[in-house]
Amino acid sequence: MHEDVKAILVTEEAIAARVKELGEQISKDYAGKEPVMVALLKGAAWFAVDLSRAIDLPLRMDFMVASSYGNSATTSGNVKVKLDLSENIRGKDVLLVDDIIDSGLTFAAITQMLKTQKPSSIRTVALCDKGERRQNDFKCDYVGFSVPDEFLVGYGLDYAGDYRNLPYIGILKPSVYGRA
Ligand code: IMP
Ligand code: MG
Repeated sequence: MHEDVKAILVTEEAIAARVKELGEQISKDYAGKEPVMVALLKGAAWFAVDLSRAIDLPLRMDFMVASSYGNSATTSGNVKVKLDLSENIRGKDVLLVDDIIDSGLTFAAITQMLKTQKPSSIRTVALCDKGERRQNDFKCDYVGFSVPDEFLVGYGLDYAGDYRNLPYIGILKPSVYGRA
Protein backbone atom coordinates (compact mmCIF):
# COMPACT_ATOMS: atom_id res chain seq x y z
CA MET A 1 0.00 0.00 0.00
CA HIS A 2 1.20 3.53 -0.79
CA GLU A 3 2.54 5.34 2.28
CA ASP A 4 0.16 8.30 1.73
CA VAL A 5 -2.87 5.98 1.81
CA LYS A 6 -4.58 5.45 5.18
CA ALA A 7 -6.61 2.41 4.11
CA ILE A 8 -7.77 0.57 1.03
CA LEU A 9 -11.49 1.14 0.57
CA VAL A 10 -12.01 -0.98 -2.56
CA THR A 11 -9.53 -3.59 -3.71
CA GLU A 12 -8.45 -4.13 -7.28
CA GLU A 13 -10.41 -7.41 -7.35
CA ALA A 14 -13.60 -5.78 -6.04
CA ILE A 15 -13.32 -3.03 -8.66
CA ALA A 16 -12.93 -5.57 -11.45
CA ALA A 17 -15.95 -7.56 -10.23
CA ARG A 18 -18.14 -4.44 -9.99
CA VAL A 19 -17.03 -3.16 -13.40
CA LYS A 20 -18.04 -6.50 -14.88
CA GLU A 21 -21.49 -6.27 -13.23
CA LEU A 22 -22.03 -2.71 -14.42
CA GLY A 23 -21.01 -3.73 -17.93
CA GLU A 24 -23.50 -6.58 -17.92
CA GLN A 25 -26.28 -4.32 -16.62
CA ILE A 26 -25.56 -1.65 -19.23
CA SER A 27 -25.37 -4.26 -22.00
CA LYS A 28 -28.87 -5.43 -21.02
CA ASP A 29 -30.31 -1.95 -20.63
CA TYR A 30 -28.93 -0.82 -24.00
CA ALA A 31 -29.59 -4.03 -25.94
CA GLY A 32 -30.05 -3.18 -29.63
CA LYS A 33 -28.48 0.26 -29.16
CA GLU A 34 -25.05 1.64 -29.90
CA PRO A 35 -24.19 3.90 -27.00
CA VAL A 36 -21.56 6.61 -27.03
CA MET A 37 -19.49 6.59 -23.89
CA VAL A 38 -18.25 10.04 -22.90
CA ALA A 39 -15.53 9.88 -20.26
CA LEU A 40 -14.58 12.94 -18.26
CA LEU A 41 -10.81 13.22 -18.31
CA LYS A 42 -8.60 12.67 -16.63
CA GLY A 43 -10.19 10.86 -13.69
CA ALA A 44 -12.73 8.69 -15.51
CA ALA A 45 -10.23 7.32 -18.03
CA TRP A 46 -9.20 4.24 -16.04
CA PHE A 47 -12.78 3.27 -15.16
CA ALA A 48 -14.29 4.11 -18.55
CA VAL A 49 -11.78 2.07 -20.53
CA ASP A 50 -12.31 -0.98 -18.31
CA LEU A 51 -16.09 -0.51 -18.33
CA SER A 52 -16.17 -0.20 -22.12
CA ARG A 53 -14.51 -3.62 -22.37
CA ALA A 54 -17.22 -5.07 -20.11
CA ILE A 55 -20.01 -3.81 -22.40
CA ASP A 56 -20.96 -6.30 -25.07
CA LEU A 57 -22.40 -3.84 -27.59
CA PRO A 58 -21.12 -1.72 -30.46
CA LEU A 59 -19.87 1.32 -28.60
CA ARG A 60 -18.11 4.54 -29.48
CA MET A 61 -15.83 6.36 -27.11
CA ASP A 62 -15.38 10.07 -26.68
CA PHE A 63 -13.74 12.27 -24.06
CA MET A 64 -14.22 15.65 -22.48
CA VAL A 65 -12.11 17.63 -20.07
CA ALA A 66 -14.18 19.51 -17.52
CA SER A 67 -12.80 21.01 -14.40
CA SER A 68 -14.21 22.35 -11.18
CA TYR A 69 -11.55 21.43 -8.71
CA GLY A 70 -8.18 22.94 -9.49
CA ASN A 71 -5.72 21.48 -7.05
CA SER A 72 -7.88 21.87 -3.98
CA ALA A 73 -9.70 19.12 -2.08
CA THR A 74 -13.02 21.01 -2.10
CA THR A 75 -15.22 21.96 -5.05
CA SER A 76 -15.31 25.47 -6.43
CA GLY A 77 -18.73 24.85 -7.97
CA ASN A 78 -17.37 26.21 -11.22
CA VAL A 79 -17.52 23.78 -14.13
CA LYS A 80 -15.58 24.64 -17.26
CA VAL A 81 -15.19 22.61 -20.45
CA LYS A 82 -11.55 22.66 -21.48
CA LEU A 83 -11.81 19.99 -24.19
CA ASP A 84 -15.07 19.27 -25.97
CA LEU A 85 -16.43 16.16 -27.70
CA SER A 86 -14.87 15.20 -31.00
CA GLU A 87 -18.03 13.60 -32.42
CA ASN A 88 -21.62 14.70 -32.89
CA ILE A 89 -23.98 13.16 -30.31
CA ARG A 90 -27.24 14.23 -31.94
CA GLY A 91 -29.69 11.30 -31.78
CA LYS A 92 -27.18 9.14 -29.84
CA ASP A 93 -27.53 7.35 -26.51
CA VAL A 94 -24.91 8.94 -24.34
CA LEU A 95 -23.33 7.35 -21.27
CA LEU A 96 -21.51 10.07 -19.38
CA VAL A 97 -18.82 8.58 -17.13
CA ASP A 98 -16.94 10.12 -14.22
CA ASP A 99 -14.71 8.76 -11.48
CA ILE A 100 -16.82 10.12 -8.64
CA ILE A 101 -19.96 12.14 -8.04
CA ASP A 102 -19.57 14.42 -5.07
CA SER A 103 -21.48 17.73 -4.99
CA GLY A 104 -23.23 16.67 -8.22
CA LEU A 105 -22.34 19.99 -9.89
CA THR A 106 -20.15 18.44 -12.59
CA PHE A 107 -22.76 15.94 -13.80
CA ALA A 108 -25.55 18.53 -13.54
CA ALA A 109 -23.60 21.07 -15.60
CA ILE A 110 -22.28 18.64 -18.22
CA THR A 111 -25.57 16.83 -18.79
CA GLN A 112 -27.23 20.24 -19.22
CA MET A 113 -24.65 21.22 -21.85
CA LEU A 114 -24.88 17.88 -23.67
CA LYS A 115 -28.68 18.07 -23.84
CA THR A 116 -28.41 21.17 -26.02
CA GLN A 117 -26.81 18.88 -28.65
CA LYS A 118 -30.02 16.82 -28.78
CA PRO A 119 -28.84 13.31 -27.94
CA SER A 120 -31.57 10.67 -27.88
CA SER A 121 -30.79 9.96 -24.21
CA ILE A 122 -28.17 10.70 -21.56
CA ARG A 123 -27.41 8.55 -18.54
CA THR A 124 -24.63 8.96 -16.04
CA VAL A 125 -22.19 6.42 -14.62
CA ALA A 126 -19.95 7.06 -11.63
CA LEU A 127 -17.39 4.71 -10.19
CA CYS A 128 -17.98 6.22 -6.73
CA ASP A 129 -20.87 8.15 -5.23
CA LYS A 130 -20.23 10.36 -2.19
CA GLY A 131 -23.96 10.76 -1.58
CA GLU A 132 -23.81 12.74 1.63
CA ARG A 133 -21.96 15.59 -0.09
CA ARG A 134 -24.58 16.25 -2.76
CA GLN A 135 -25.48 19.93 -3.21
CA ASN A 136 -28.33 19.29 -5.66
CA ASP A 137 -30.81 16.48 -6.28
CA PHE A 138 -28.79 14.84 -9.05
CA LYS A 139 -29.24 11.06 -9.19
CA CYS A 140 -26.62 9.05 -10.98
CA ASP A 141 -28.04 6.18 -13.09
CA TYR A 142 -25.21 3.67 -12.55
CA VAL A 143 -23.00 3.72 -9.45
CA GLY A 144 -20.05 1.47 -8.78
CA PHE A 145 -19.65 2.08 -5.07
CA SER A 146 -21.38 4.29 -2.50
CA VAL A 147 -18.49 5.78 -0.58
CA PRO A 148 -18.05 7.71 2.67
CA ASP A 149 -17.05 11.37 2.85
CA GLU A 150 -13.30 10.81 2.76
CA PHE A 151 -10.76 11.96 0.19
CA LEU A 152 -10.20 9.04 -2.17
CA VAL A 153 -7.38 8.30 -4.57
CA GLY A 154 -6.52 5.60 -7.06
CA TYR A 155 -8.03 3.96 -10.17
CA GLY A 156 -8.20 7.41 -11.77
CA LEU A 157 -8.97 9.42 -8.64
CA ASP A 158 -6.27 11.94 -7.87
CA TYR A 159 -5.09 14.43 -5.37
CA ALA A 160 -3.40 17.33 -7.19
CA GLY A 161 -2.73 15.01 -10.13
CA ASP A 162 -1.07 12.24 -8.12
CA TYR A 163 -2.07 8.66 -7.23
CA ARG A 164 -4.27 8.02 -10.30
CA ASN A 165 -2.37 4.84 -11.20
CA LEU A 166 -2.92 3.07 -7.87
CA PRO A 167 -4.83 -0.11 -8.80
CA TYR A 168 -7.18 0.17 -5.78
CA ILE A 169 -9.37 2.95 -4.33
CA GLY A 170 -7.69 4.21 -1.18
CA ILE A 171 -8.42 6.78 1.50
CA LEU A 172 -5.79 9.50 1.41
CA LYS A 173 -4.19 10.39 4.73
CA PRO A 174 -5.54 13.79 5.83
CA SER A 175 -1.96 14.82 6.65
CA VAL A 176 -1.22 14.70 2.90
CA TYR A 177 -3.89 17.19 1.80
CA GLY A 178 -3.35 19.21 4.96
CA ARG A 179 0.12 20.00 3.59
CA ALA A 180 -1.13 21.80 0.46
P1 IMP B 1 -18.69 17.18 -8.16
O1 IMP B 1 -18.86 18.18 -9.25
O2 IMP B 1 -18.56 17.86 -6.82
O3 IMP B 1 -19.72 16.09 -8.15
O4 IMP B 1 -17.27 16.58 -8.29
C1 IMP B 1 -16.88 15.59 -9.12
C2 IMP B 1 -15.38 15.71 -9.28
O5 IMP B 1 -14.77 16.01 -8.02
C3 IMP B 1 -14.76 14.42 -9.71
O6 IMP B 1 -14.60 14.39 -11.10
C4 IMP B 1 -13.42 14.44 -9.02
O7 IMP B 1 -12.47 15.00 -9.87
C5 IMP B 1 -13.56 15.34 -7.85
N1 IMP B 1 -13.59 14.62 -6.56
C6 IMP B 1 -14.58 14.61 -5.67
N2 IMP B 1 -14.29 13.86 -4.59
C7 IMP B 1 -13.06 13.36 -4.83
C8 IMP B 1 -12.20 12.48 -4.08
O8 IMP B 1 -12.48 11.98 -2.99
N3 IMP B 1 -11.00 12.20 -4.67
C9 IMP B 1 -10.63 12.69 -5.87
N4 IMP B 1 -11.40 13.51 -6.59
C10 IMP B 1 -12.60 13.85 -6.08
MG1 MG C 1 -12.42 14.71 -11.84
